[in-house]
Amino acid sequence: MFEIQSNSIEETLQLGRRVAEGLKGGEVIALTGELGAGKTVFVKGLAKGLGIEETITSPTFVLARTYQGRLLLHHIDLYRLETCNDLDSIGIDDYLGGGGVIAIEWAEKFMGDLPPPFLHIIIEPGEDERRLIQIAAADGAAWEGVYNSLRWRQNGFS
Ligand SMILES: Nc1ncnc2c1ncn2[C@@H]1O[C@H](COP(=O)(O)OP(=O)(O)O)[C@@H](O)[C@H]1O
Ligand SMILES: [Mg+2]
Repeated sequence: MFEIQSNSIEETLQLGRRVAEGLKGGEVIALTGELGAGKTVFVKGLAKGLGIEETITSPTFVLARTYQGRLLLHHIDLYRLETCNDLDSIGIDDYLGGGGVIAIEWAEKFMGDLPPPFLHIIIEPGEDERRLIQIAAADGAAWEGVYNSLRWRQNGFS
């Protein structure tokens, strides 16, 4: 697990782009953090990094949206979900089997039901535009590429 401080929207976008570079497909990225923390901003960066040109909008009402880039990106928002059955009803298993990348906002609601190994990104708002971003992998090996691409810039963005 390591921590990165983001000082601006641009830095959070850049972090997303960095993570995208290390993705091979089949990864699940679980995003945790209160409303307005910056989860959707991170996913926007991720999409950019995957070469997706479309505008990413929060899928709060539709629960999931899929975008085609270098890899498929399934952007899921569990904010309005109440039970695990709902998780089945959005077809999460189908997404998992498809070889795309899955980014899940409000993942903490169903963390126990998510299949490891997922990358867990926790965003904590600080003052103004500051965000403390913690990155933890459930299974280090599967995430080695992503970890390595991030580690060297742990102390800042350039
Ligand atoms: N460092 C930062 N990283 C991400 N978002 C930031 C940052 N500083 C300010 N913001 C603002 O915080 C809000 C984050 O919104 P959003 O990504 O939709 O949150 P969430 O999806 O976690 O509810 C946006 O209005 C964004 O402009
Ligand atoms: Mg959001």
